[in-house]
Amino acid sequence: QFVATFITEQRYMLFVNGLKTTLIITLSAALLGIVLGFCIAYVRTTYDRTGKMGFLNVLCKVYLSVIRGTPTMIQLLIMYFIIFGSVKIDKVPVAILAFGINSGAYVAEIFRSGIMSIPVGQMEAARSLGLNYTQATWKIILPQAVKNVLPALGNEMIVLLKETSISGYIALQDLTKAGDIIRSRTYSPYFPLLSVALIYLVIVMLMERLLTMMEVRLAQSDR
Ligand code: ARG
Repeated sequence: QFVATFITEQRYMLFVNGLKTTLIITLSAALLGIVLGFCIAYVRTTYDRTGKMGFLNVLCKVYLSVIRGTPTMIQLLIMYFIIFGSVKIDKVPVAILAFGINSGAYVAEIFRSGIMSIPVGQMEAARSLGLNYTQATWKIILPQAVKNVLPALGNEMIVLLKETSISGYIALQDLTKAGDIIRSRTYSPYFPLLSVALIYLVIVMLMERLLTMMEVRLAQSDR
């Protein structure tokens, strides 16, 4: 009887709230990661092409090595138990910060490869027409780079969504944790775990749709 009551309402709410948490963390971290990644890619390509921003470039390289060199889960745990260990703070912003900083490193390399994929001749042509380096970068290079970068960026967003499933390690009730709680309370693994899998799958399929739409839209100017 207890199980039957739990099955209906509470279970539903756990899923809904878990999904909400997962989406909030993913969207905010994605935004943070894209901003961070863009700035880093900008610094690194500017250093490569003009020799300016040498100091920042070194900082960026250290960041990339450290973030890509350690597991996301350890970074999340360090963020929660060490960096915010002594302050009382909501777990969601901690997770957003950890996942955002993590994603930023991967996004930085995606943007950097996108910028490098534009032939140097484009920059030279823009400069010869009287644009300065900053103008040429923003008006000529970046609009083309963004287009090339979309598939890889979409990939990263999908990875990020699924990576947030480790949030349970800091006792955050995201979608995965919700499913696991239901599994342990009902002693039945099938429904909760397969439902969670299905929900992630549906979100990822929606993201793929959105991505294809954006690619089609941006490809219009190619013809
Ligand atoms: N889970 C692995 C890790 O902890 C891979 C992370 C990949 N992340 C990404 N945003 N592409 O390091």
